[in-house]
Amino acid sequence: MDKLLVQGGVPLHGSVKANGSKNATLPIMAAALLSAEPVIIEGVPDLMDVRTMAAVLQALGASVRFDPVDGIMNISAEVLRGNEPPLQLVQQMRASFLVLGPLLARCGRVRLSLPGGCAIGIRPVDLHLKGLTAMGAHFSMVNGCIEGETDGLKGARIYLDYPSVGATENIISAAVLARGTTILENAATEPEIVDLANFLNSMGALISGAGTTSIRVEGVSRLTGTRYKVIPDRIEAGTLLLAGIITGGEVIVENVLSDHLKPLLAKLRETGAEVEELGHSAIRAGRSGLLRAVDLKTLPYPGFPTDLQPQFMALLATCLGTGVITETVFENRFRHVEGLSCMGAQIQVDGRHAIVHGVSALTGAPVCASDLRGGAALLLAALGARGQTVISDPYHLWRGYYRLVERLQELGAKVKRVYPEPEQLISTGG
Ligand code: UD1
Repeated sequence: MDKLLVQGGVPLHGSVKANGSKNATLPIMAAALLSAEPVIIEGVPDLMDVRTMAAVLQALGASVRFDPVDGIMNISAEVLRGNEPPLQLVQQMRASFLVLGPLLARCGRVRLSLPGGCAIGIRPVDLHLKGLTAMGAHFSMVNGCIEGETDGLKGARIYLDYPSVGATENIISAAVLARGTTILENAATEPEIVDLANFLNSMGALISGAGTTSIRVEGVSRLTGTRYKVIPDRIEAGTLLLAGIITGGEVIVENVLSDHLKPLLAKLRETGAEVEELGHSAIRAGRSGLLRAVDLKTLPYPGFPTDLQPQFMALLATCLGTGVITETVFENRFRHVEGLSCMGAQIQVDGRHAIVHGVSALTGAPVCASDLRGGAALLLAALGARGQTVISDPYHLWRGYYRLVERLQELGAKVKRVYPEPEQLISTGG
């Protein structure tokens, strides 16, 4: 297995461009199954999760062509030859479950194993099933798989007990071809939901209210093809901004929608970091001195994103004072604490709270990435730490960050991928 070798303590400087959003691309790819006409998606990041979703669609009979250099993906689901994505693909990535709504709408039947993905909690799918059941689907568990069928989805009034992002996406996708009107209350309001709705509307769907907690979908009989560009990745952009601040450098991240990053920018300013919005599509971040600890609570959008909580913890680890992080979205999202502690961070976990006592500096250590964003947190901490860090299992990072190592190197970071075993320190310029 490869590892990441990081020589910390080098301030990052320069500009870097955020890629298209992973979490917008995946539901949009799944929703491409709803049309028999070709769909072209622009701004698609070349990530392991995107390739897994492409493999899921191909296994169902869709043709998928991806140009990773231009970020353009062509999907044609003219004929589907199946409604059972292969078990090993679905178990690799939770987002494969996003084909549930589109397959029910398009084929009337679906068989899916329970989804896998990052080990950050139980992550049930009850809300997906409840919503689709209200629309006339029937589900049963057979040999560990969920089997669903319907003799025609119909519009319904659905209230989500929790604003689940994935459930909102599955229900919207199913509702666009249902008979009648669906009204979804307490819907998730994440920018990726708005992007999915805009994509579907560009194919002739009639969705209004996306981005608010009440979404209305008027069913239509068919969807056309389309050409659509996904929004920039707010989580990747936030991670890169944090990299600049943690290393004591200054980074400009381009191709961002600063509105989508409001909660992060507000918290960064509270620490005393220097954050400047350069128009609507670029942000500069850095710091001139020590930062103050702050408290933080993750919440559904527009609250602070759980997907940036681990990376922010890496920052808090060396802030002045004590900050409390409360994770309300996932019940097991502190697995990065172990690695940060190995690097000298002083963190106590008590249920959903992590109490972070700032230390003057972290020191390099051998650590292991436990999940995608937890791995990003360890990488950020390593970039800011004294000495050398070796990160095992960096493959988690390739699920969500495109050419991360190369792009950090362009900003001056001394980081490299080594295979199979690191033998020596990185020389300067690495
Ligand atoms: C999506 C994102 C993920 C992000 C998360 C929260 C994608 C591909 N992934 O994941 O990066 O961290 O939103 O912003 O877009 N829940 C239930 N029952 C359900 C569904 C969810 O209890 O039927 C719970 C989950 O266990 C979790 C919480 O709701 O504790 C949030 O999950 P959800 O919003 O569904 O996240 P995902 O769509 O899986």
